[in-house]
Amino acid sequence: MRIISVVNQKGGCGKTTVAINLAAALVKLGKKMLLIDMDPQAHASLGLNVPYEDITHTTYDLLIEPRLKLSDTVYKFSEDFDIVPSSHLLSALEQELSGKKGRENHLGSKLARSNETYDFVIIDSPPNVGILTFNALIASNEVIVPVEPSYFSLDGLDRLKETLELLKSEIDHTVTMHILINNLEKRTTFARDFVCELERKHEPILMNTTVSHSVRYKESALKGISIFDMPDTGHLCREFLAIAEEIEEKSPVLDMENIRGWMARLHGPSVVEEGILFSIDAPSAENVYLTGEFASWSRNGISMDRDSSDGLWKVALKLEPGEYEYRFIVDGIWIKDPKNSDTVVNEFGQENSLLIV
Ligand SMILES: Nc1ncnc2c1ncn2[C@@H]1O[C@H](COP(=O)(O)OP(=O)(O)OP(=O)(O)O)[C@@H](O)[C@H]1O
Ligand SMILES: [Mg+2]
Repeated sequence: MRIISVVNQKGGCGKTTVAINLAAALVKLGKKMLLIDMDPQAHASLGLNVPYEDITHTTYDLLIEPRLKLSDTVYKFSEDFDIVPSSHLLSALEQELSGKKGRENHLGSKLARSNETYDFVIIDSPPNVGILTFNALIASNEVIVPVEPSYFSLDGLDRLKETLELLKSEIDHTVTMHILINNLEKRTTFARDFVCELERKHEPILMNTTVSHSVRYKESALKGISIFDMPDTGHLCREFLAIAEEIEEKSPVLDMENIRGWMARLHGPSVVEEGILFSIDAPSAENVYLTGEFASWSRNGISMDRDSSDGLWKVALKLEPGEYEYRFIVDGIWIKDPKNSDTVVNEFGQENSLLIV
């Protein structure tokens, strides 16, 4: 599964146009596709005419409700094309999650835990670098940056590069960047100079195929369909098929196994041969226990051992598929799992960590 977000903090540079039409092109190439709308403006959902009367959950619910699975929020657009639609509620998420640990990991955690098998997941993002865009980038192993021939668009590109460098240095998360030129009027001198400038600065990550300027892209968005469902758009369809093929040929830097391993480091319990591995970093602790529903919330819980190789306290349990609430007891103090962003409030008003096996 390749997870690609479409990001540029510059508004109106073609993120949604690229997300919708690239997704449709990949479906045409026989790929199983999931499009996630991470923009409170919900342009990708509107641009595909998602029938909101049939929708029960949106991206907002997926990110805010720990028990909700990815599959609960998917709207089946066609046989091989699913979408998680957005709603304006998503704009409140930033505030609701502010100050909460792990707030950037919700989407990645849901994707890592999903049993759905897609060839590609494409995530449309809003025109800023806030919690929603961080969720998209952390969930992704690749990012497409649409740039239109304007220098503001390039500013967005430089800022995004800085953000990706930060993700690499802070949490060792690599996101491979592909730059896609959009809205190009090839005949103008300015456009040619712009392409030369991009080639000079970013050649290795610049995509060969470009998206032409055409009013048909605007028309298709207004009609709520992709370019492939518009009449007389053969040349534009070929353009997006070429982009899809170029993307397909590029191999991602990280495969899903690596992503899952990385997710586990960030999201607490992970699957190992012996079962589910719980771990916590508590360097000065004398004793650490794991307790939860599986241990009848016993105060003694299940004893954890310090692993001499990395200093983490660990225990592996065999658990049947299901939901489990748990906490660690570190030198007698009950705490939630600091690496797991999924929590539920218990009857004492405190947070238990939530694990879905
Ligand atoms: N290649 C193109 N030719 C002509 N119009 C285009 C092209 N690409 C995008 N547009 C139009 O430009 C406008 C902005 O595009 P789009 O919504 O895809 O940008 P965006 O980056 O998603 O915007 P936002 O930052 O608000 O999410 C839309 O009206 C869209 O139809
Ligand atoms: Mg958009």
